Amino acid sequence: MSLFAFEDAACRALAAAHPTPLFAYSRAMASRQFQHLRGALPARVQLAFAVKANPHPELLKLFAELGASFDCASGGELHRVGALPLASGQVFYAGPGKRREELALALALGARVQVEGWEDLLHLEALAEQPVHVNLRVHPATGAEERNRIIGGTGPSAFGVDEENVPALLERAQLLTQVRIRGLHVFAASNQRDAEALLSTHRMVLELAHRLQQRHGLLLEQIDLGGGLGVPYAPEEAPLDVNALGQGLASLLAAHAWFTGRLILEPGRFLAAPCGVYLARVVRVKESRGTRFVILEGGINHLLRPLLTGQPFPVKAVGKTGTTRPATLTGPLCTSLDRLGDVHLPELEPGDLVAFGMTGAYGFTEAMAPFLSHPAPAEIWVETPPTLTPPPTTPPRPPHTNTPQKPPTPPPPPKKKKKRTKPPTPPHQKPKKKKNPSSPPPLPPRPPPSPQKSPKKKKKFPPKKPQKN
Ligand SMILES: Cc1ncc(COP(=O)(O)O)c(C=O)c1O
Repeated sequence: MSLFAFEDAACRALAAAHPTPLFAYSRAMASRQFQHLRGALPARVQLAFAVKANPHPELLKLFAELGASFDCASGGELHRVGALPLASGQVFYAGPGKRREELALALALGARVQVEGWEDLLHLEALAEQPVHVNLRVHPATGAEERNRIIGGTGPSAFGVDEENVPALLERAQLLTQVRIRGLHVFAASNQRDAEALLSTHRMVLELAHRLQQRHGLLLEQIDLGGGLGVPYAPEEAPLDVNALGQGLASLLAAHAWFTGRLILEPGRFLAAPCGVYLARVVRVKESRGTRFVILEGGINHLLRPLLTGQPFPVKAVGKTGTTRPATLTGPLCTSLDRLGDVHLPELEPGDLVAFGMTGAYGFTEAMAPFLSHPAPAEIWVETPPTLTPPPTTPPRPPHTNTPQKPPTPPPPPKKKKKRTKPPTPPHQKPKKKKNPSSPPPLPPRPPPSPQKSPKKKKKFPPKKPQKN
C-alpha cells in the first residue's frame, strides 16, 4: 500500500491549481481500499464506515454507492448520513454522551443505537413510539490492548457499560416496555495492524456474547466488533493482512454456530486514511541550537493527530531528492505545541512543497482549525489525478512567497458555474478564484540562506521569548 495517494507530479499540479495548504482525497484510492476490505470479508460481515474518520460528503457518497453502512457518533454525523440514499439497518449511532435530541434523530432515521448506559435506555424508552431494538456497548475487562491511547484499551473508560456491570443492567432493562437489547457492541482498541491481535479481541467478544446468551437468555441479532483496523504510518510498517482477517472471521463464525446474526465492522481509519494527502509549503527554515525547524503553512490547526498520539504522518518533500537530515516540522502557530513530527528530509527552502500521506482519516476533521484564525485549508475531492500542463520543467517559483500564486502555466481558473474542474472540488469548499484572501502577502526578501551558514546573523534573532501555551 502506498503511503501517498498522489505521486509528486500530481501533488505539484494540485498545489499549482489551488491555494495551499490543502487536503486532497483520491476517489480511486478510497474506492480501492473499500473494495479490498469488502472482498476479503465473509458476506455475514456488514461494513460500516466510521464517519468521524472523515465526514467529507463525496467520500460518504462514494462509500454509500459501494454498499457501505455508516457508524455515526453525533447528531451532525447523523444529519450527513441521513442525506444519503440508504436502506434501513445501514446506520449505527454510538457515543458516550448522547443527547435526547440526538437520540430522537437517530430513531427518526431508523439508526441502530449502541446504548452506552442506563441513561440511553431511559431516553429511548421515553422517545420510542414502537418497540425498538438496540445494541449494548460493553467495555470489556480483558483482551483489548492498544499501543497509542485512542479508545483506551481495557482501562477505565467513558465508553459503554463495564463488563462486570452488564448482568445488573440486563436485569434492569427487562422492565422496559419499548426498548429491547438485541445486540452487542465492543470496541476498545484502535489502529491495530496485526490481524491475529484483532481476531483475538473478536474471539473474546464472541465468547462474551455466548456467555450473555447462555446466562441471561440474551437474543443477539448482531454483534458489532467496532473499528480499529490499522494502517501503516511509516514505510517499515506492514499493512494489515485483510485476507487473514476475513478468513479468521469466517472461522469464528463457524466456531460459534449458536450465533446466526450479523457481525458488524465499523472501520474509519482503514477505509479513509490512504486516500488523503495534506500539502503545505515551507514558509521558513530556521536552525536553532542544532535543530532544523521547517516551518510550514499549516500545523496542528490542520493536523493534530501527531501531537495527540506522538506518531507523525508519513511525509515527503515533493520533487526533492538528495541526502536527508533531521528536521522538526512545525506549523505557523505561536505555540511550541505546534509540532508535526521529527523526521528526516532533504534540504528545504521557502516555497518548497511538503506532502503528508495517510491524512484521509483523522486529518482535518480531528484538527483545531480555529486556533490563530489561519484560513481553513480546502479539501479537494479528486476524481482523476491531475497533471501539470504543459509538463513541467523546473517550476519557476517566486522565491519568497509561501503560497505561490504563479505556477509556470496555471491551469485555467475554475469556471464560475461549473460544479467540477479537474480536480473537482465539492462546491461547499471550492477554493476561491482569487488569491486566498487570508494568505499573507509575499514575504519580504529572505534573509541569507540559512542561519547556520552565517552565525553572525543570529544576533538579529533574539533568544526565544518565553513559550506560550
Ligand atoms: C464507536 C467507534 N466505532 C468506530 C470507530 C473507528 O475506529 P477506527 O478508525 O480505529 O477504525 C471509532 C473511533 O473512535 C469509534 O469510537
